[in-house]
Amino acid sequence: MIIHSAKFVTSATKPSQYPPAELPEIAFAGRSNVGKSSLINTLVNRKRLVRTSRTPGRTQLINFFSINDRFMLVDLPGYGYAKVPDRVRKKWRPMIEAYLTRREVLKGVVLLLDTRRVPDERERLFVAWLGRHGQPVIPVLTKSDKLSKSSQNRQYRQIMDTLGVNPFAPILFSAKTRRGRKAVWEVIENLTRQQL
Ligand code: GTP
Ligand code: MG
Repeated sequence: MIIHSAKFVTSATKPSQYPPAELPEIAFAGRSNVGKSSLINTLVNRKRLVRTSRTPGRTQLINFFSINDRFMLVDLPGYGYAKVPDRVRKKWRPMIEAYLTRREVLKGVVLLLDTRRVPDERERLFVAWLGRHGQPVIPVLTKSDKLSKSSQNRQYRQIMDTLGVNPFAPILFSAKTRRGRKAVWEVIENLTRQQL
């Protein structure tokens, strides 16, 4: 994938604020701090196109980035972090659900999971829920650099078993070493190449 341009387009909380539905979109979902924004930066070879932070809950809006004027990468706020004030967190679910269920140009959801954790009930329900909405799910296992090779393999198998049937096998990824970058791009390219 050759990146000619990567541009921030807009932030939104509700459908009326989304950009015109003219390009295919791939969304990035996952718990706070799992590495969604870092993954997008790694994909586009930029250090700070998307803001990342040690403090979970950094991304609080739906952010749209246009790549090569051909498709959009969409950074979603993370879920499940206690340090975000309740009133903020309560708004996230309807905001994210509205986007995931009503956006016609959405072609797939990259679900980020920390390689060190086995997906919890909520993550399994989320995968099933996306499946019911006909959304392809691409599990990307982040921060794989933090585990030894044998632990990575063990976690990989366990995560795969936990998630069950899925159209895509999980991809081991690291924003630090850039491992898995190419594999993620291949899936994105396939999904966005289809007709709108
Ligand atoms: P929210 O916006 O709060 O939902 O978080 P996020 O999912 O966008 O996470 P973000 O990309 O901001 O990363 C969170 C922290 O994890 C940062 O300190 C990153 O530097 C670190 N991080 C992200 N990916 C990796 C990785 O692959 N390896 C290592 N070692 N650290 C990572
Ligand atoms: Mg973020």
